[in-house]
Formats: sequence, C-alpha cells, structure tokens
Amino acid sequence: MSLESIKYERGKLEVLDQLLLPLQTRYIKVQGVEDGWKVINKMQVRGAPAIAIVGCLSLAIELMKDDCSDKKIMRQEIEGKLNYLVSARPTAVNIKLAGDELINFANSLCADENVTADDFRERFIRSIENMLIKDIEDNKAIGKYGCEAILKNLEGDGHVRILTHCNTGSLATAGYGTALGVIRSLNAAKKLEHVYCTETRPYNQGARLTAYELVHEKIPATLVVDSMVAALMHARNISAVVVGADRVAANGDTANKIGTYQIAIVAKHHNVPFYVAAPLTSIDMSLKSGDRIKIEERPDREMTHIGEHRIAAPGINCWNPSFDVTPAALITGIITEKGVFAPDKLYEAVP
Ligand code: MRU
Repeated sequence: MSLESIKYERGKLEVLDQLLLPLQTRYIKVQGVEDGWKVINKMQVRGAPAIAIVGCLSLAIELMKDDCSDKKIMRQEIEGKLNYLVSARPTAVNIKLAGDELINFANSLCADENVTADDFRERFIRSIENMLIKDIEDNKAIGKYGCEAILKNLEGDGHVRILTHCNTGSLATAGYGTALGVIRSLNAAKKLEHVYCTETRPYNQGARLTAYELVHEKIPATLVVDSMVAALMHARNISAVVVGADRVAANGDTANKIGTYQIAIVAKHHNVPFYVAAPLTSIDMSLKSGDRIKIEERPDREMTHIGEHRIAAPGINCWNPSFDVTPAALITGIITEKGVFAPDKLYEAVP
C-alpha cells in the first residue's frame, strides 16, 4: 500500500501531518478553508500538487456545509476563498491554476439558467473531487514517459542509478508521485539499480519523507547530504537526475526546492542528464522566464532548529529561500503527462 497524505470522502478531509514524519503518523482534520490555509502554510502538507488538492478540497468541505441559495453569491465567495488559499504559499503555481480553472467553471455554471444553486454546489464539489483521480492518472503517465526517456539513451547494462532531491512522491501528490513516480516506474520495470536521495536541508524533505517512502516501498536507496552531490556524481556513475517542480516558466526555467539549481550545475559538469518531472498544472505560461517567479522565504527557525533542538549559534542572521530557479539551459527535458518536452518546446505541451 502506498502512503496516503490526503484522506478524503464527501464531507471529510484529513491530511497526514508531515511535520511529524517519519517518527509519528498522525492525521489532522481539515474542516474548511481556514484549516486548509493553515496546514499548507505550516507545511503539514506540502508539495505543489498536494497543496493544490488540499486547498481546493478544503473549499469543497466548506461548501458542503453552506446552505446559500444564490449561486452568484456562492461564486463570489468562492473566488475570495481561492485567492486566500493561494496566499498560503506563493511559489507553487498549481493551486493558482486550479483556482483559475474552478472560477471559469463556476462562471459557466452561473451563466447556465438551468443550473440551480444546489446543482451548482454539487457540480462544483464534484469537479474538485476529480482532482484526486486526475493527479494519480497524470503521475502514472509521467512515470511511464520518464522511464522511457531515461532508458532510451542508456549505455552499459541497462540498469540506472538515479539521484533525486526533495520529496515528490505519494506524500507530495494524491498518490504515486512525479519524480518519485518516474523512479517507481523504473523500479517496476526492473531497470532501477539504485536511487540516491538528498537530505534536502533545511526542512529535510529528503531525509524525512523521501527516505521514508523509499524504505516503505522497498526501493534500493541511499541517503546523502546536500553537499555530497558532486562527490556522488564523481564516484557512483549517476545515470540521471530527476526532480519535481513548483513552477515552470514558459521558457522552461524551473523553480523547485532550494538546492535544485546547484545539482543541475553539477550534473552539467558531469554530463549527467537532468530531468524535471511535473504535471502541466505546474507550468505557468504567463511568466516568460524564471526571473519573474516569486520565491517564498521561510522562517529562520527552519534553519536554526531541528524540531525543538537548536543547532545554529543564537544571534546568527539567516537567509532561508525555500526554492531556487534552475535555468532552462541546464534541463535535459521536462517530463509531463503528455510526454517529454525540451524546455524551449513547452508551447507544444501547453498550447
Ligand atoms: O517546500 P515543499 O516541500 O512544498 O517543496 C516541494 C518541492 O519543491 C517539490 O519538488 C515540488 O513541489 C514538486 S512535488 C511533486
């Protein structure tokens, strides 16, 4: 059984508290948009697709309790709540794009005279619920295309050693994962020799979450700290790097977890293919380049402490950007649910 970060049934939403992993498994009840904003902002749930899904499902939970009988008023309220949810974490674009799509859908329902307020509520909630199924389908397609792309140009015995960064697995999505989905898919095809995951300081998504998923799935894996990547590429003949994305600009520049950029530079130096695995809902064609991506800065405490334990000298200043932008020139291909695209050919994937 895959790990489940989001548990949902009509009227009930729970998320696995990722701040407590890997030591404790505890689900938190999300009873509406306010709770949704909090679990996203505190990073109890994280990962671009999971942020979008939990945010929108928290709205569905709230709509279930709403007895408004005017669909235009409902639509107005929905827009305000979606904007509020987007503000919880600014870099991942998935929740913004999902919100835009939902507002377009709400507009079309409002314009249709045959749709009553009850129909509006039901159809709107159903379209949010569909995100759960679609995300898993997209991730499986990403896994398949990524696996094919990595194996295509392979030399040697046909078995690969993959490096990944941060957490892009079941915990970061509705299930299966994006970059970790590619790894899962290589493993299922019996083509994966080994996966290396970085610790991913300061929040340790790699050490706490990816390592946990890999052990759970019995995938052969080794943890390295972020500063070992160059030595690892030199020593272990890495076949490819696969990472996720929080926002890909129209020119292919990609915002992802802090540290991704330096891994891409090291990969270029060692001639190792560097892939970004992301659903189309992570691609923001409205931004020409990565310079325009807003990078979230997180509290100092994530750097100065591990849990309750202080590790940094009291009084030191900190700079804690949560993401960096990898220039398109360092990216071999962007693996989406529609296939693998060169970073300068994204317009073929998103018309
Ligand atoms: O700060 P996080 O943990 O939300 O950052 C997560 C990442 O950077 C992931 O690589 C990205 O969201 C893709 S998750 C499928």
